[in-house]
Amino acid sequence: MLVLGIESSCDETGAAVVDESGVVRSDVVRSQVALHAPYGGVVPELASRDHVRAITLVIQEALARAEIGFEALGGVAVTARPGLSGALLVGVQAAKGVAWARDLPIVAVDHLVGHLLAVFLRRPATVTATATYPFIGLLASGGHTAIYRVDGPSISEIRELGATRDDAAGEAFDKVAKAIGLGYPGGPLVDQLARGGDAARFPIPAPMARRDSLEFSFSGLKSFVARHVAQNGKPKSETELADLCAGFQRAVVRSLVAKTVRAAQAERVGSVVLAGGVAANSELRRSAAEACAKAGLSLAVPPIASCTDNAAMIAYAGALRLARGERDDLSFSASPRTALERTTRKGGGRREL
Ligand code: KG4
Ligand code: ZN
Repeated sequence: MLVLGIESSCDETGAAVVDESGVVRSDVVRSQVALHAPYGGVVPELASRDHVRAITLVIQEALARAEIGFEALGGVAVTARPGLSGALLVGVQAAKGVAWARDLPIVAVDHLVGHLLAVFLRRPATVTATATYPFIGLLASGGHTAIYRVDGPSISEIRELGATRDDAAGEAFDKVAKAIGLGYPGGPLVDQLARGGDAARFPIPAPMARRDSLEFSFSGLKSFVARHVAQNGKPKSETELADLCAGFQRAVVRSLVAKTVRAAQAERVGSVVLAGGVAANSELRRSAAEACAKAGLSLAVPPIASCTDNAAMIAYAGALRLARGERDDLSFSASPRTALERTTRKGGGRREL
């Protein structure tokens, strides 16, 4: 069954065609980065308006690249949560329009579930990382950072083990980049600059290093860099810039990796998966591989196109539900909150070791 996936939760307008085995027939992502860059972050109103301009063109492009028409589709999947309300509504309404006009079943997908299952996407000419259930998923993006135990693809099979108490990891990258005078989004820029840097010059401690907690905190790192800039001014040389980026990045990565390994050991789960935009970070990919090898854990890292926001992961998560015969009523709406957080926290989700 071919499923059209639609994504508009933040600053990417995406549409993709994927089947329930994860084969990606097309994956179109139209980024709004240039639109928001002058403001140093996503401006919700501008995001919604730009999604409106782009959504139908992006859907048409996804079908064209998959070389199919609407009649070849078996269903529609759309990100309905979490995200910016106005932005989400654009994708939700477009998806409902397609489903209504073509009499197709539709499913609402949680963006975070999409990220966690993105490891199963099979992109042509790309090596697929092998992951098996159960796995420990580290999801680090611009809006969320948490560790999950994933026993299967349904929401009821995904349990949050620990999350950030304040900023998401990607948010910290973006805020630090802004503080030291880099552009938006900061993650890829910091990653690039840190490659030539000496992380030891600014020995920033990994936050929340307490052994018994699976929670994160990244706002202190941002404050450390802001204080450094307040006292010394913005980095004056390429070397200082690179060293600061490397020191900050190492602290973030150490925290993410240590807690993920700890979670796998505590849960006695041998498989680890990285997900979300920050999983594109080269130091996180390298360091997670090293730590997992040392701990005897298998690690699956999706290709970068599957880590950052895309509609293929939404199509796949939706295709699994549709294949089970599930469908949502056309009256569903968008929500800024994830269903994972709600279900897991209510049930005493976060755990202390
Ligand atoms: O998953 P994503 O595309 O969107 C959200 O759902 O938030 O994640 C975007 C975040 C941004 O904060 C961006 O700076 C960060 O992922 N990011 C990175 C890298 N590439 C993207 N952070 C660190 N290193 C990277 N290479
Ligand atoms: Zn995302």
